[in-house]
Parts: sequence; structure tokens; C-alpha cells
Amino acid sequence: MLATGNGTRVERARREGKSNEIFTEWEPRHSVLWGNQPLCLRHRLHEHPLFSRSSLAALIERYPAGKYMLVKVGAPGHEREWREGDFGSLGGEEVISAIERGNMWLNLLRVHEVDSRFGALLDDLFAELEAHLPSYQTYNRICGILISSPQAQVYYHFDTSGQSLWQITGSKRVYVYPASAPFLARDELESVCLYNNETNVRFEDWYDDYASVFTIGPGQMLSWPLNAPHRIENLGFSVSMTVEYAMRDIQRKVRVNSANCILREKMGLNPANRTSGATYWAKTALLGAARVTGLVEAKRRSRRPITFHLHPDIPGQIIEVT
Ligand SMILES: [Fe+2]
Repeated sequence: MLATGNGTRVERARREGKSNEIFTEWEPRHSVLWGNQPLCLRHRLHEHPLFSRSSLAALIERYPAGKYMLVKVGAPGHEREWREGDFGSLGGEEVISAIERGNMWLNLLRVHEVDSRFGALLDDLFAELEAHLPSYQTYNRICGILISSPQAQVYYHFDTSGQSLWQITGSKRVYVYPASAPFLARDELESVCLYNNETNVRFEDWYDDYASVFTIGPGQMLSWPLNAPHRIENLGFSVSMTVEYAMRDIQRKVRVNSANCILREKMGLNPANRTSGATYWAKTALLGAARVTGLVEAKRRSRRPITFHLHPDIPGQIIEVT
């Protein structure tokens, strides 16, 4: 169900006998496709007042420093670029205008912790999913708002948590690749699980021949299998909501892959990836010991330094930090 903070929209929908579910389509086949195949479904979040331009501008203005990422990326066909910046004291509308004219994206991280109305929305969303999906026990649920420039792109990578992408404004082309070799290399999966750094995953242009390609617009969402690599090209200024979650099995896979990375890197072994039994618990202990000794933390990805500010007078331009 949609959460609005004051419940007005929900109550009106009830009075008018209209459905207020977030998904506007769900067929029995979607329950068996979810998580196993890339799946594009329709929703109504793009109509929700929380995602209006003025609401997002107000949200940006009260967003805590350090809880958002502003990243400048390379234009399509140009050299790969990833620089982090900040928007300082610019107003929310000014920040949105700068993104509309620049080549960057703003990720409002863990928005459910900053504004409880998004937390309520996230709860409603997962309540609907649990109604459709038997045994769908999720935790560590996270949502973020991604506001990105017309030509911004997200480079080829994969994530170690469950994921879905909800399009609110504008369109994106999303390439989803099989979660198997050679697109998902075992050593890279293990390394990403351990070091939380998915920014240098191998990519070849011919991978696209094997991708499922979706163009999603406002009112469409996409989910894909765990660890499925993906990359994204904007087809105009875009606002999306990203959702992440853990499940017991997902967490176990992260632990085993992380421990396997240690065994492979430090001991030259080629370990199996079972997620149960004595081997699983031994690997969990190994991982704990490695973290305690600092063996892992030194190589884990940390935030990059701020190298630019948004120009206060010229939307889309940046000022270098000297
Ligand atoms: Fe991703």
C-alpha cells in the first residue's frame, strides 16, 4: 500500500474503491520469475507526492552531508571517470537543475533513515512482495533516491545484495547479464564480497550480445537475479528509487565468498562455495578472524575524496577543489 504520511491519498483511494497497491500488475507467473530472471513490472510510485520535484528539492536541502554521494561520470564514448563532489549549501532546486545540465548523479543514500515516510513506503513495498512470494523473508532493507543527468551512466558491475530499480522520472536503458561465467567471474565475486569494491569488474563489449536489455520509464521497475551484472545508460534526466535487501541465503553466500577470497589470496587454495555444514561455520570463523586482525579492512573500499563542488551560478558546471 502507498504511504503518504497523512494517509489522505490512501483514504481517498479506499473511498473511491480504487486499489492502492504499489504494483499495478502481478500475475502468478511473476511469483516464480522473481529473483530467477530479470523481471520488469509496472508500479505507481511515480504518482506518489514524495517523488514530486518540489518534494525531492526539499529533501535535498535537509540531507545530511556524508549521507549522499554526488558523482561525476564520463560521457558515453569518453574515458571512464568517477569523481566525488558535494553540493554545499545550494538549494534543492539548484542541485536538480545542475544535474539536469551536467554529467553526474546524486545518490541520496539510505533515504528511509533520513525521512521516515520513505521507511513506511519501503515497509509497504515489502509487505506486498511477501504477499506474492512465499518464504520471502528479507531484512536490512535499504532504499535510496538516484537523481542523474541525461547522459549519465552506471558502469558494468554486480551487487552482493538483493536489488530492484524503480523508475520515477525519465527513462533508462538497463543491460542485465547472466549471473554466471564469463559475465560473473568467481574470483571477482569473491573479491567484491570481501572488499566491497565493485568498481573495476571486467567488461568486454561483446558481453552486450548476451544481455537482456530493458528500456524502463516512469511507472516501471526492474528486478534481477542475485549477483547478475548490469550497466545502465540514461535516456534523459532521470529519477529512480533503488531498493536493496538481504536474506539468510544471500548473507551466507556473502560470507562464504568472502572467506573463499581470503583462502584464495592468502593461501593459494581453490575452495568450494557450499553455504551450509561445518565448512560454512569454519569459513565464518575465518572471516571474523581476518576482520579482527585488519587483514581485510585495509583493502575495503572507502569513500573517495571530494574533488569538486557544484558551481553556484552556472548549473551543470563544477568548481575544482584545489
Ligand atoms: Fe547495481
